[in-house]
Amino acid sequence: MRKVGIVGLGKYLPRKVLTNADLEKMVETSDEWITTRTGIKQRRLAAKTEAASDLAIKAAKQALGDAHLDPAQLDLIIVATVTPDMQFPSTACFVQSGIGAKNAVCFDVAAACSGFVYAISVAQQFIACGTYENALVIGVEVLSSITDWKDRSTCVLFGDGAGAAVLTSVKSGGILSIYLGSDGSSTDLLMIPGGGSRNPVSRATLQKRLHYIKMEGNELFKVAVKSMTEAAHIAIKKAGLGFSDIDLFIPHQANMRIILAVAKRLELSLEKVFANIEKYGNMSSASTAVALCEAVKEGKVKKGDVILLDTFGSGLVWGACVIKW
Ligand code: ACO
Repeated sequence: MRKVGIVGLGKYLPRKVLTNADLEKMVETSDEWITTRTGIKQRRLAAKTEAASDLAIKAAKQALGDAHLDPAQLDLIIVATVTPDMQFPSTACFVQSGIGAKNAVCFDVAAACSGFVYAISVAQQFIACGTYENALVIGVEVLSSITDWKDRSTCVLFGDGAGAAVLTSVKSGGILSIYLGSDGSSTDLLMIPGGGSRNPVSRATLQKRLHYIKMEGNELFKVAVKSMTEAAHIAIKKAGLGFSDIDLFIPHQANMRIILAVAKRLELSLEKVFANIEKYGNMSSASTAVALCEAVKEGKVKKGDVILLDTFGSGLVWGACVIKW
């Protein structure tokens, strides 16, 4: 099997900023509650004219430029999203057309907040076994389109954004291990009940606001800490490393308290933890994609460093990935 590495990164965050002070005017909440319970200060919102592929295309172009790769050289585009432009075609096909990657095979992956790591694992295997050479993996969300702006228990948490990575075969380093896990017995903890084939859109589903995110935050919190800790342990062991070998921990950005609880269990010092939740909130599959891009562009990752990506989300699905930069 060939080694696979990330050779280009990009991101796009919509211009519009929604602060905690803005939310105070929309629902009964406070900057103090949001900051202490989640660590979030503000989030970005896509413009009315922006769909997931619009954000994804901008991040993709940046990642391709970073990798010095022509779009025509792409063999594969995988978009991780729970907020596709449409039910079909896949958002990856819109991206293909938008960047002119005429030779790429395109599809989406739905694994909620773990989507970026799940999509990386798929691309890695296509490249490792020699089926494809160059892949573009994008985590993108317009969560503002499925957020109930009247529900204070969820609307303060989410934001919009996109992160992209170009993967190719490398001689050394690259992805050392990936571990994925799923538990379908707790689907009820986080879902959008309406709008799919279970409850097709109707006047009743709209009146009951079933097309918005419904979440049992308290229960999820505990499972998130447990699953992310376990995933990290297994991925690090699979890579043949120990926790002291990790130079930077890039977790899913759902809640600063979850991030700190997992870091504590992994005995990682705070300097090794990357967080941008304060600026963007939870962007589901875009969170780890944007965080990885920012960590590298801000010079927090040097050549030879070992990075640990660690995610958790609706499904429930979780995953961790160890990369030698
Ligand atoms: N402002 C003020 N008060 C609020 C708000 C708000 N925005 N939201 C809830 N409250 C109130 C509640 O009504 C409750 O009041 P009560 O005690 O009078 O009933 C109180 O605050 C405490 O509510 P909890 O839900 O217990 O608050 P908690 O400390 O658990 O924080 C949170 C909630 C932030 C959602 C947290 O549970 C969390 O982050 N959970 C994990 C989320 C997660 O990991 N999701 C998975 C990934 S997301 C994805 O896949 C798309």
